[in-house]
Amino acid sequence: MSATLIDGKANAAALRDRLTGVVRALQAAHGRAPALAVVLVGDDPASQVYVRNKARQTQEIGMRSIEHRLDEKTSQEDLRKLVQSLNADPAVDGILVQLPLPAHLDEAAIIEQIDPAKDVDGLTEASAGRLVLGKPGLRPCTPTGCVILARDVLGDLGGKSCVIVGRSILVGKPAAFLFLEQNCTVTIAHSRTHDLPALCRDADILIAAVGRAQMIKGDWIKPGATVIDVGINRVDAPERGAGKTRLVGDVDFDTASQTAGAITPVPGGVGPMTIACLLRNTVLAACARMDWPLPAEI
Ligand code: GUN
Repeated sequence: MSATLIDGKANAAALRDRLTGVVRALQAAHGRAPALAVVLVGDDPASQVYVRNKARQTQEIGMRSIEHRLDEKTSQEDLRKLVQSLNADPAVDGILVQLPLPAHLDEAAIIEQIDPAKDVDGLTEASAGRLVLGKPGLRPCTPTGCVILARDVLGDLGGKSCVIVGRSILVGKPAAFLFLEQNCTVTIAHSRTHDLPALCRDADILIAAVGRAQMIKGDWIKPGATVIDVGINRVDAPERGAGKTRLVGDVDFDTASQTAGAITPVPGGVGPMTIACLLRNTVLAACARMDWPLPAEI
């Protein structure tokens, strides 16, 4: 392997350290710490783990964590009322409704209920519109993490070609606008793109967010490129023993790391940045709501 490993864990820890300072300052000036409310409906095991990690990390940087765990059978109306009550609660700065919601609930309609000033996932139409229009607002967490990692490797991203493989609402589309905001020349690729390997080979920055295990190979990568792998895919790992599995990204790490200049591992790359950026959004939301100047250092 010749690429430098991009350490998402260390970057996330450094961001949390910077956030801790702002949280202390807000607490001292306003007599309360920023608060993040997380709503979990049902008992999906993966979502439970995410929610537990979010709550723990929220508290670790000195913020208040408010958890609402609702029954799997919760009605649309009851969930809507809860979101409305969190919107109205002056002590709540950020609201996150853990996805996916159970199938009987209308996910988009619930997200749309969240006050954009508290939309720490950056998923409401208002937040998406503000991103597209280049207005200040809360940005989706995972693509924000990708930008922070790319800037950590490359510094100023102006003029770099950035190819994003994947056009999801959560990652691909907002990533395109965030890298455009950094003055990159952005291309979004997807399942109908012609000659994807050739397109990827043009990228100074390659963002892999397709959700297909190890799809992007080493010979798709421009020598020296920065590769950011958003994928988290569980695959069989018979080499670890019968029935064992392991996590891999959307990039074939073993071949890609021969050609890339810098690359994120999976796990330990983008993953840790997502929660750190959620905490960052909560701090940014609290600053805006408390009329506190937005801290440049985060
Ligand atoms: N479930 C998996 N990822 C996410 C995310 O970024 N936000 C929310 N709300 N739910 C998720």
